[in-house]
Amino acid sequence: MTLFDVYPLYDITPVKAFGAKVFDVKGREFLDFYGGHGVISIGHSHPDYVAAISNQAAKLGFYSNSIKNPLQEELAAKLGQLSGYEDYTLFLCNSGAEANENALKLASFHTGKSKVIAFSKSFHGRTSAAVAATDNKSIVAPINNHEVVFLPLNDANAFVSEISKGDAACVIIEGIQGVGGLDEADTSFFQLISAECKKHNVVLILDEIQSGYGRSGKFFAHQYHDIQPDIISVAKGMGNGFPIGGILISPDFKASHGLLGTTFGGNHLACAAALSVLDVIQKENLIHEVNAKNDYFVKKASAFPEVKKVKGRGLMLGLEFDFEIADLRKTMIYDQGIFTGNASQKNLLRILPPLSITFEEIDLFFDGLKQALAKVASAQNTSV
Ligand SMILES: Cc1ncc(COP(=O)(O)O)c(C=O)c1O
Repeated sequence: MTLFDVYPLYDITPVKAFGAKVFDVKGREFLDFYGGHGVISIGHSHPDYVAAISNQAAKLGFYSNSIKNPLQEELAAKLGQLSGYEDYTLFLCNSGAEANENALKLASFHTGKSKVIAFSKSFHGRTSAAVAATDNKSIVAPINNHEVVFLPLNDANAFVSEISKGDAACVIIEGIQGVGGLDEADTSFFQLISAECKKHNVVLILDEIQSGYGRSGKFFAHQYHDIQPDIISVAKGMGNGFPIGGILISPDFKASHGLLGTTFGGNHLACAAALSVLDVIQKENLIHEVNAKNDYFVKKASAFPEVKKVKGRGLMLGLEFDFEIADLRKTMIYDQGIFTGNASQKNLLRILPPLSITFEEIDLFFDGLKQALAKVASAQNTSV
């Protein structure tokens, strides 16, 4: 059997990693400014994390959700404490798409309605309702046939006019758009959405799958806007690479047995990984340092005339150029040994390093960027 070929691959085979350093099978060293799509939060192979997973695997890796699992309760308590959502409840699953799928389903159960309000350039995952709420027709199959309306971000009139129709179950919005290209609703728009959702009994779902877990400089990016969503979806940084996702659910929602469920969600190994991530975030004060690292990064970026704009917050960033970045990204990887990401905005280089990235590593990133920009510019000049 061979693999179903859906991923365009870079010719790199990582075999080990530590912190923000990744080593490939040929012994080459890479600096990770992408964290495998924003997943690596506390750094690769953190010793506490490795010990927590190894110890748990040696004791009990898995049993089903029909037995007691105190690790889930411990995780819920710790996540509530660190995020400021102590009165919310937690449902655990295995990925970001699954978290949003459950959030959308819960909103539909709660309101008895099915229409979803989503936004241009959104990305919410690839399961049925999540992909239908994703603004990319090429990944939506005919079977993903859900009632979804896409509105422009920050268009107050369009939003009020849509929600006033009274037929929406929920609004789903990213704290900061990731795949779409680091755009973000402004505070007045977030507050309008929140107020209108309350007024019309519509569930507000905040997708913090990429922007959560400290990446923005606060535990959740929406916490910059003084709102409290009804449901918050999390994944990526939550497990630092161990597959785990979840939804934080406001006390207004009543659970009943069988309403939601999963075989693997919240298993012992996943909980051990997620608990260790929260412990390290707390112990190493990682969120507290994100904004100082952002300041340093933005200041260094501003010295580059090629960088037209720095988008995003904290360590969820995009460098905007006036050319498409595909060649620059390749040069950064193959010549400079630095991983970065792309976005559906083709002139944006996406930057999602571990929260544990150091100031020295940020210096190395900009040294590499300088060389890579020079190489791409000279290649363009010779091809003219
Ligand atoms: C904002 C957002 N939501 C949902 C998802 C889907 O997560 P997953 O790939 O774990 O299903 C992603 C993944 O990139 C994302 O960035």
